[in-house]
Amino acid sequence: MRSSPSEPVAPPFPAFGLVEAERSPTGGHILSGWWIAPAGVVIDGLTTRVGDRELQAPHRVGQPSPDVAKAHPGLPGAERARFRVEVGASPEWDLANQLVSVVPRSGARTGTPLFTLVEPRVPLPRKEDLQVTGGAFRACYEFLGYFLTRTGLQPQHSVLEVGCGCGRMAYPLAYYLRPPGRYEGFDIVAHLVAAASSALTPTFPHVRFQAVDLWNSVYNPNGRLRASEFAFPYPEASFDLVFLTSVFTHMFPPDVRRYLAEIRRVLRPGGRVLLTAFLLTPESEGLIAAGRSSQPLIHVRPECKITKPEEPEAAVGFVREDFERWLRDARLEPIDHAPGFWCGRPRQASYQDLVIAARA
Ligand SMILES: C[S@@+](CC[C@H](N)C(=O)[O-])C[C@H]1O[C@@H](n2cnc3c(N)ncnc32)[C@H](O)[C@@H]1O
Repeated sequence: MRSSPSEPVAPPFPAFGLVEAERSPTGGHILSGWWIAPAGVVIDGLTTRVGDRELQAPHRVGQPSPDVAKAHPGLPGAERARFRVEVGASPEWDLANQLVSVVPRSGARTGTPLFTLVEPRVPLPRKEDLQVTGGAFRACYEFLGYFLTRTGLQPQHSVLEVGCGCGRMAYPLAYYLRPPGRYEGFDIVAHLVAAASSALTPTFPHVRFQAVDLWNSVYNPNGRLRASEFAFPYPEASFDLVFLTSVFTHMFPPDVRRYLAEIRRVLRPGGRVLLTAFLLTPESEGLIAAGRSSQPLIHVRPECKITKPEEPEAAVGFVREDFERWLRDARLEPIDHAPGFWCGRPRQASYQDLVIAARA
């Protein structure tokens, strides 16, 4: 792991999956789950970490997983993707209220870690709030993996989340970041921000949220301010990482360009932005035309395409070259792109396209 965001990141092999914890009959915990390394790397071991400590515990990998093979047909290793770790009861290794990671190994190489919060003592987001922001809570674990492996996030870094919704992404970050490391999030839906703030900030004062009254036809139709004129409420060069998950998929190009300029302004030199988007390429447009995409981005609007003319900001996609030009115009250099499976491609990384850029 690099010590500052400007040093090169050694890439662990990509892997996705999930890990869950349950109490064992002896009062310890069993961690179990599955993973797939889409590039075909054979996973032959694992390392378990509790916070930043490595835990030696009996484990098995390569267990049969017909359910995973059914959900991810054709992906390498899907038939024997399950793993299991047995953590005995011990005061030294109480997993309750801890962020636990399970890191896949292939020989001497390690892959994208899987995370879970074991019996967290903070209230989790309400189902209704997760539904409004369109997602499962466990996506927060997936994204922590990307922050670590694709942006070089470290516990002492400062992180800004733009469009934080009900704060789901902040949960594992609250445990991972250690002061002076901190998290700030803002969103345009006041009640979601209030829920996130009351759940997390009292326990984790280095995690803070604020609401801004910006207009959006879907999320805040009575908003007073325009995103295209908005200045983020933070000083310049104050964050190592800025991220946006499923936010630019609800914004139009002039607003997106304004946000990219603001992201550049608040990033420290060498800092990174990780964002998700629906990027239109010959491949994704071909899949849309063939009816394979979960997002039929077919209605043409200035500099973008949308799925629903009657609800324009429900889903917005940009041509990849245009989007990369907007990044460069904002002096953000694109350094990584992981195509999403939203358009019907086989899964490689996340549902939406992942884009990572560095403050040039
Ligand atoms: C699909 S939700 C994703 C929420 C959150 N990023 C997550 O992954 O859980 C989209 C979020 O973007 C927010 N949003 C929309 N327009 C915004 C803007 N101009 N500035 C900040 N947030 C915005 C919405 O209020 C909503 O919470």
